[in-house]
Amino acid sequence: MKYQSQKVAYLFFATSLLLLCLQLVYGFILGFAHMGFDVLHDWIPFNTARATHTNLLVVWLLCGFMGSAYWVIPDESERELVSVKWAVIQWASFVVVGVIALAGFHMNWWEGRKFLEIPRPLDYFVVINVLLFLGLIGATAWKGKRFTTTGITLIIGLVSAALLYLPGMIHFDNQVFDSYFRWWVVHLWVEGVWELIMGALLSYLLIKLTGVDREVIEKWLYVIVGITFLSGILGTGHHYYYIGAPEYWLMIGGIFSALEPLAFLGMAIFAMAMSRKGGRKHPNRIALRWTLGCAVLSFVGAGFLGMAHTLPQVNLWTHGTLVTAMHGHLAFWGAYAMIVFAMIMYVMPQMTGRNLYNGWLPEWAFLLSNIGMIAMTGAFAVAGIAQVYLERKVGMDFLDVQESIEVHFLGLVLAAVLFTAGILMFVWNFVQFGIPQNDVLTSDDEEGVYAEATA
Ligand code: HEM
Ligand code: HEM
Ligand SMILES: [Fe+2]
Repeated sequence: MKYQSQKVAYLFFATSLLLLCLQLVYGFILGFAHMGFDVLHDWIPFNTARATHTNLLVVWLLCGFMGSAYWVIPDESERELVSVKWAVIQWASFVVVGVIALAGFHMNWWEGRKFLEIPRPLDYFVVINVLLFLGLIGATAWKGKRFTTTGITLIIGLVSAALLYLPGMIHFDNQVFDSYFRWWVVHLWVEGVWELIMGALLSYLLIKLTGVDREVIEKWLYVIVGITFLSGILGTGHHYYYIGAPEYWLMIGGIFSALEPLAFLGMAIFAMAMSRKGGRKHPNRIALRWTLGCAVLSFVGAGFLGMAHTLPQVNLWTHGTLVTAMHGHLAFWGAYAMIVFAMIMYVMPQMTGRNLYNGWLPEWAFLLSNIGMIAMTGAFAVAGIAQVYLERKVGMDFLDVQESIEVHFLGLVLAAVLFTAGILMFVWNFVQFGIPQNDVLTSDDEEGVYAEATA
């Protein structure tokens, strides 16, 4: 750790993992409900559990991105964070707003717009919170000694994510308009600006872990940012099919969204190529494994499984079914959960001075969580395809179909147990690292000082 203020990232990472565990509890509630055991229905009905599950996901990922930024930006701009005190206040207020929002869902205080359920009054607090975060990050970069492509891309990604939250706050009486702009947030986040955040963090980790020259890695970053924007912006059209938006979106959405996997393919090839090229044997192999795993699985979950239902001819049948859940799980896991895990694994040894990245625990955490998530994706796929066929080809009633696919959710829950075991191991590993220490001054810079410090 080069700068003591980077330690504030710990608060965000710890919160992130805690909220992930809570998200999994709600995942099990949903899984059991799908199996026919909706036992909590009177207290936590399916819609509440579902909104809580997905919003917890968004909150823990944002928390992970914020922690990553508080770590990366001082490092990239070569100075301490402008204010640790305000960063802690920002963390605390973020947690408070998140807890109020999630508790509110359980009392029917919400908007009911998938992924944007947070009620409008709380949205204003989110905006203030995010402005504070961006102010701290931005001022640190501004006053810093160095501007790097990696740092700037990360900041542009974060600022754009904040700006794109705003269209989701406009009120429309018309459902089509509301849906139209809801996608500016949901789609342009995950298939646009969050990809920049992911690309920047990948680039940061690869620079540190492979020893390949920054210039080489950052050139790739430009290419990836270019492909992301070229395909992702007009790719929004894949959510405008048959919803009441003009018909030309069928063509535009189809063509541009079919190009979107290229950005993820680019990141996968980029990460693999850099790790082969890199001459440096960084001792933290598990952080590199999460980094490469992220690059590869994001291509599978977002690119490949996204492609599976992005053409209008297919989406006509699969829209809003468990096929979407299949893709949603592996895409979010591969791209955004794994990049946060990679950052945590890279950062923790430096923050605490403990090299707990060797041994069976981190290895098994990686293996079980990934095998579990791939198996969960398989279970959703089987259930989803059966659902599409029975409900939309055969014409069976929605609830009859749900009953006939209950068995696939036994498969889902078993896979989820494996996944959860992996996550709990990761969390246990995190706990073992302990809290950040004051006197740790190992610096994992591009000259490889860290390798000596830990030899
Ligand atoms: C990491 C990136 C991605 C993530 C996290 C992600 C996640 C999701 C999620 C959660 C949904 C459901 C949204 C909702 O109904 O509100 C969704 C829908 C969709 N995604 Fe992705 N996605 C990603 C990338 C992609 C890519 C690259 C493609 C295309 C190649 C794609 C194609 C689609 C399509 C067509 C839908 C609509 C499904 C429907 O009609 O029900 N996604 N995605
Ligand atoms: C214990 C593990 C988990 C279980 C059992 C589980 C189960 C479920 C179930 C049953 C649904 C509802 C599907 C429906 O609408 O009928 C759901 C939704 C969702 N879950 Fe999970 N989940 C788990 C973990 C995760 C993780 C780790 C992520 C992200 C990395 C995630 C992301 C999502 C998303 C994005 C949706 C919404 C999908 C859509 O829009 O169709 N889940 N989950
Ligand atoms: Fe999309």
